[in-house]
Amino acid sequence: MAKVTAVITGVGKYVPDYILTNKELETMVDTNDEWIVSRTGIRERRILKEEGKGTSFLCIEAAKDLFSKKKTDPKTIDLVIVSTATRDMIAASTAAYVASEIGATNAFSFDIDSACSSFLYGMSVVSAFIESGKYKKILLIGGDKNSSMINYNDRNTCIIFGDGAGAVLFEPNEEGLGVQDEYLRTDGTGREFLRSLKSGSSYPPKLGDIINEDNFVKQEGSTVFKRAVSEMANVSEEILKRNDLKKEDINWLAAHQANKRIIDATAKRVGLDDSKVMMNIEKYGNTTSATLPLLIADYEKQLKKGDKIIFAAFGGGFSWGAIYMKWAYNS
Ligand code: UT7
Repeated sequence: MAKVTAVITGVGKYVPDYILTNKELETMVDTNDEWIVSRTGIRERRILKEEGKGTSFLCIEAAKDLFSKKKTDPKTIDLVIVSTATRDMIAASTAAYVASEIGATNAFSFDIDSACSSFLYGMSVVSAFIESGKYKKILLIGGDKNSSMINYNDRNTCIIFGDGAGAVLFEPNEEGLGVQDEYLRTDGTGREFLRSLKSGSSYPPKLGDIINEDNFVKQEGSTVFKRAVSEMANVSEEILKRNDLKKEDINWLAAHQANKRIIDATAKRVGLDDSKVMMNIEKYGNTTSATLPLLIADYEKQLKKGDKIIFAAFGGGFSWGAIYMKWAYNS
């Protein structure tokens, strides 16, 4: 019997209408367009402004986009996973709400949070479920309302992050396409350098507390940058080696969009020229769990059946890794 693998069979996306430009950021913090573009590659990012709308809103819209493009009946979905670092609420599953709202009434659902690696790790979970034969149709949505955890007085973070979501449908395949291999890593000593100290259980809020900068994400940018450069390149090289792949064999690098310089350095180490590197950071900034599915959505039309793609991510925790996939369809 042929081995069953997990392939992507459809993709949808959503970004909010509001565009936060570098020019507008110049009016908020001590920064400038030239610095942001040369240090990060980011020109603008999308922000979800409407009061009361959380990450679920982004995820629901991305899933609806997928359903309308692919003519999928949500009732046929077995499992909905929401990869996110910005759940709607503590103590209530975001995925459960998303699944109900999109009409995936025959699915169960759960969230995965591993900061910027959430979607990559989600791909690993989906692939294991499908290979085992346990579930057949899995919707993996990567979405983050990063603006909910950003201090817009902090130029180390507010210039980088944006909001968005991408939804990807996975199904079984017996032609040897889809997820081929993964190499995933974590290092908990990294949490000192990228985190929101007072947004979880370590330092819960007390009545009468006044909000301060510890309630928002802070990072030691250059430490995170250096580690991201070396680890994303390490895992990408490792996954090529383990699968006997030469740089000429690779059609695409889909790397987490945190900083153009990190992506360029990873591509250089692996030996890929710009034409093989997916890039949309200039439009959206770092959308955390949404960067990889937004790349897939934006590049879908250029992808050909059999294309070899290396997905790579690095983020808070620290958490990072790479997945090797063979694309399954021509659009
Ligand atoms: O997705 C999760 C993983 N996150 C990341 O991968 C983010 C990784 N880090 C980065 O992308 C970069 O470290 C940043 C974009 C955050 C910062 O870039 P950098 O090249 O590492 O700058 P830096 O922090 O080393 O600072 C260089 C200079 C400093 O000035 P002095 O001390 O040299 O005078 C900063 O104060 O740039 C200054 N600076 C800024 N200037 C204008 C820092 N942020 C800004 C800013 N605008 N927004």
